[in-house]
Amino acid sequence: MDAIEALLTRKSTAKLDLPAPSKAELDTLLQAAMRAPDHGCLRPWKFVVFKDRMREELGEILCEALTKNDPDASEAACEKEKKKPLRAPMVIAVIAKVSEHPKVPAMEQIISAGAAAQNIMVAVHAMGFAGIWRTGSPCHDPHVRARLGAVGGDEIVGFLYIGTAISAPPIPEFEKSDYIMEWKAAAK
Ligand SMILES: Cc1cc2nc3c(=O)[nH]c(=O)nc-3n(C[C@H](O)[C@H](O)[C@H](O)COP(=O)(O)O)c2cc1C
Repeated sequence: MDAIEALLTRKSTAKLDLPAPSKAELDTLLQAAMRAPDHGCLRPWKFVVFKDRMREELGEILCEALTKNDPDASEAACEKEKKKPLRAPMVIAVIAKVSEHPKVPAMEQIISAGAAAQNIMVAVHAMGFAGIWRTGSPCHDPHVRARLGAVGGDEIVGFLYIGTAISAPPIPEFEKSDYIMEWKAAAK
């Protein structure tokens, strides 16, 4: 699939199964991430890959976060958290590693990490896999942040759920003129 086709046909898929990208394919995905535009060449990102049984450890972290925030949380609510990372055979947490820089504000570093995440998502699709970018309260939770190595101004910009599509939703239509305007010279 060429780059334009990948960009025009990528869509999110929540229902995912095996196979996941192989070790070599994962390496390509992460190289694609590293090609995201990045003001000042700071490489302001970190990718934490959860595969196989390691997804269960991520589930444990989510469950621990829930019970730290709500000691009365039910067993069922905790089990729900534990199962979240099992919704795909591979999960990549993308963390913006934000540092003080005289010319590159935090927002630009976070955008770069988001662009790296999107490079992964497009590359996933171009390789014939599928995925969905998820966030939610775990991204901002102190326990999850600490366990994943997000410190200070770092931001967890998302959890990328990756695998093979079980069913593919359609791509929604949109009205171009709602989003795009060509600037015309003002009449004088
Ligand atoms: C930063 C970010 C966070 C998101 N968080 C979630 C989320 O927590 N749960 C969810 O179902 N979709 C989330 N989405 C939306 C999906 O990733 C997806 O974009 C959306 O379902 C639309 O599908 P599409 O990508 O095929 O257009 C998020 C997207 C972005 C960019």
